[in-house]
Amino acid sequence: MDTAPRPVISATGLFTPEESISNEELVASFNAYVERFNASNAAAIEAGEVRPLEPSSVEFIEKASGIKSRHVMAKAPVLDPEIMAPRWEERADEDLSILAEIGVAAARDALARAGREARDVDAVLCAASNMQRPYPAMAIEIQQALGIDGFAFDMNVACSSATFGIQTAADYIRAGHARSVLVVSPEITSGHLNWRDRDSHFIFGDVATAVLVEEADLAPAAHWDILGTRLKTVFSNNIRNNFGFLNRAHPDTADTPDKLFVQEGRKVFKEVVPMVAQMIVDEAGRLGIDPQALRRLWLHQANAGMNRLIAQRVLGHEASADESPTVLDTYGNTSSAGSIIAFHLHSADLREGDTGLICSFGAGYSAGTVFVRKAG
Ligand code: COA
Repeated sequence: MDTAPRPVISATGLFTPEESISNEELVASFNAYVERFNASNAAAIEAGEVRPLEPSSVEFIEKASGIKSRHVMAKAPVLDPEIMAPRWEERADEDLSILAEIGVAAARDALARAGREARDVDAVLCAASNMQRPYPAMAIEIQQALGIDGFAFDMNVACSSATFGIQTAADYIRAGHARSVLVVSPEITSGHLNWRDRDSHFIFGDVATAVLVEEADLAPAAHWDILGTRLKTVFSNNIRNNFGFLNRAHPDTADTPDKLFVQEGRKVFKEVVPMVAQMIVDEAGRLGIDPQALRRLWLHQANAGMNRLIAQRVLGHEASADESPTVLDTYGNTSSAGSIIAFHLHSADLREGDTGLICSFGAGYSAGTVFVRKAG
């Protein structure tokens, strides 16, 4: 008999920034920037030395992505055509970092829902794609702010950070290295988004999520059994960000657009959809689960069209909103947090015994599946 401790999800938590930007507001700001740019470069454009910028459109954004609005930590500077980036007061080293602050808010929400005190937690993983600094680890700052005695570290697997974090936490529990692990994903994506890039300015939003992974013996009666986790990576340059300390080695290109988010969106779409659909079906087979009988898919929230295709291939029919809920319409792409927001907001109505799938995919490429079943 297998006597290894069994990992479960005890609860999840969510922090949503108050401010939100609609597509209309975003496009008005972008197009004001385009007009100013083209006006101030009129002579060079006329001479064929500079290419004029093209305006963005609300219709394109909604049709191509499904995104209607996104939350941000600082709305006014992002919409200011002279700035088009987040802005806030720099904090002293003694004060809680902004990334840790929203991570702590999501973590407290998860702890409260599980009826758990922070002192019962053994480890914190800050699993996110947009870390504020290299060190000390954001996770250790979150651990300290919550008053947790144990260990903590950061991990970055881009959009799949949270699912990789859940498997890591589950493995610590199976191995007996921890009994209660917080996987925190604070994603302030507005810092790496190039708000002046027509191809991608509409994609991302800010948020923080937390997942409390615990040994079943410790968990509240109502929890989610983790039936199995699977991770996959395949190197690709189609989603890339070259920002890093070695940019100092070539200062001439320190501020070029590749130091922010860039992608070949079409290629990502074409390559990731079949890879992820196959991975889900294979993993369901390994676990003895009929993929077509899954009660709900909580998919990564990057693009409504990708999710429609993946869900269709897995379920064998066009998924309803109930079978594959969407949060990217109001949150945008929140990187690693997306599938966790979907799970957090759309799981309370499931019944004991219902089986579902949390699934992430993104840069790397990286993809992760977490099959769960409601208990209690
Ligand atoms: N407003 C109006 N038109 C725009 C535009 C904008 N903001 N951005 C691009 N266009 C135009 C392009 O110029 C192009 O015009 P053309 O056909 O005359 O050349 C046309 O719209 C199509 O552009 P394309 O980039 O091919 O759009 P798309 O349909 O592939 O949609 C994405 C773009 C990014 C929404 C889509 O590719 C996507 O979501 N891919 C997956 C992204 C993803 O999951 N990334 C993961 C990150 S973690």
